[in-house]
Amino acid sequence: MSIQDTIIQAFVDQFDTEPTFVIRAPGRVNLIGEHTDYNDGFVLPMAIDRAVWLAVRPRAADRVFLRSLEQVEPTDFALNAIHHTNAGWSEYVKGMAFMLQRAGYDLRGWEGVMSSDVPIGSGLSSSAALEMGVGCAFAAVSGFPFDGVEMAQLGQKNENEWVGANTGIMDQMISANGREGYALLIDCRDLSMRATPLPSDTLVVIMDTKTRHSHTESGYNERRMSCERAAAFFGVSHLRDVTVAQVQHAKLELDDVTLRRARHVVTENQRVLDAIAAMRMDDPVTLGRLMNASHASLRDDFEVTNDALDVMAMLAQATPGCYGARMTGGGFGGCAVALVRRDSAETISTTVAQQYEAATGLQPDMFVTTATAGTAIIQL
Ligand code: GLA
Repeated sequence: MSIQDTIIQAFVDQFDTEPTFVIRAPGRVNLIGEHTDYNDGFVLPMAIDRAVWLAVRPRAADRVFLRSLEQVEPTDFALNAIHHTNAGWSEYVKGMAFMLQRAGYDLRGWEGVMSSDVPIGSGLSSSAALEMGVGCAFAAVSGFPFDGVEMAQLGQKNENEWVGANTGIMDQMISANGREGYALLIDCRDLSMRATPLPSDTLVVIMDTKTRHSHTESGYNERRMSCERAAAFFGVSHLRDVTVAQVQHAKLELDDVTLRRARHVVTENQRVLDAIAAMRMDDPVTLGRLMNASHASLRDDFEVTNDALDVMAMLAQATPGCYGARMTGGGFGGCAVALVRRDSAETISTTVAQQYEAATGLQPDMFVTTATAGTAIIQL
């Protein structure tokens, strides 16, 4: 049964009636532009065919009740008394309600069930998908339009202020605004977006190393602080405004670690712009090379890969039919992404999976994805 059918059936079982709204909020994979979003830079993600699904109906009481098919405890809270109780996944739901109300939205209560096939902690933005799905549920039942940019901003506030992860805005932006068949170039300074198709005859393979990260515990916040320190050194608000030449000239004055962190961000921004140019020329070879260079920079300069990600990227890069591969998302574990020739996607997945297992003893999860639409109510 598809996840859409499963969620509708679960709703009917629980509430004895059909849901009023069924919502799909996708995870994402970032093709290139990593750790650039909080530096006001460029990212190039696409929404994937793994998603959070919600089936909901409005309810008279001003309460929210949401049961997840993957979690033991449901979320159940009153809209006029939202408190942080460290309740795991429920905090993402409560935090969205809190942020929407703080932004002035008059929310109605609702109840429903949800299910997700975005692996948690894998770098595919399961939490941003949940946030955008919940935001869409509130919009649907309360009768206001789902504004993808504003919802992404509220989702980021939720992460930063409620959940306590100091993440950027890329994940929410792409989950909310993804477009079928396209990757989105997002300028994280003004949040403008440009849809760009993948090169012809290519597919994207996501390769889950099965190693996991946690943003609240990992070096993510520490990397952000390094970037802020570097920006201050160059006298700008964000590394977006620093050039590669400036970083090179700073070699004698800036400590080695901060210099390398800055060099990653500044060169990565340029790689995103070069990637867009390559996509416009329908040139997968150049795009793939840029992805490989991005991985090397994240490994050597930004130091956010782990052995599993390095092995996975290296194996994919060495396989015929693969144009390029790199880690995707925050790093420290999770998934890598490869751009491959359409007719080689299945062979590459099988070969790399076997080699990865032989090298690490871990059984990876490989899946081919297309670029899908962003968060929306599904017409049944
Ligand atoms: C995580 C964060 C994003 C972004 C990436 C790294 O996914 O949520 O905001 O910073 O890491 O590019």
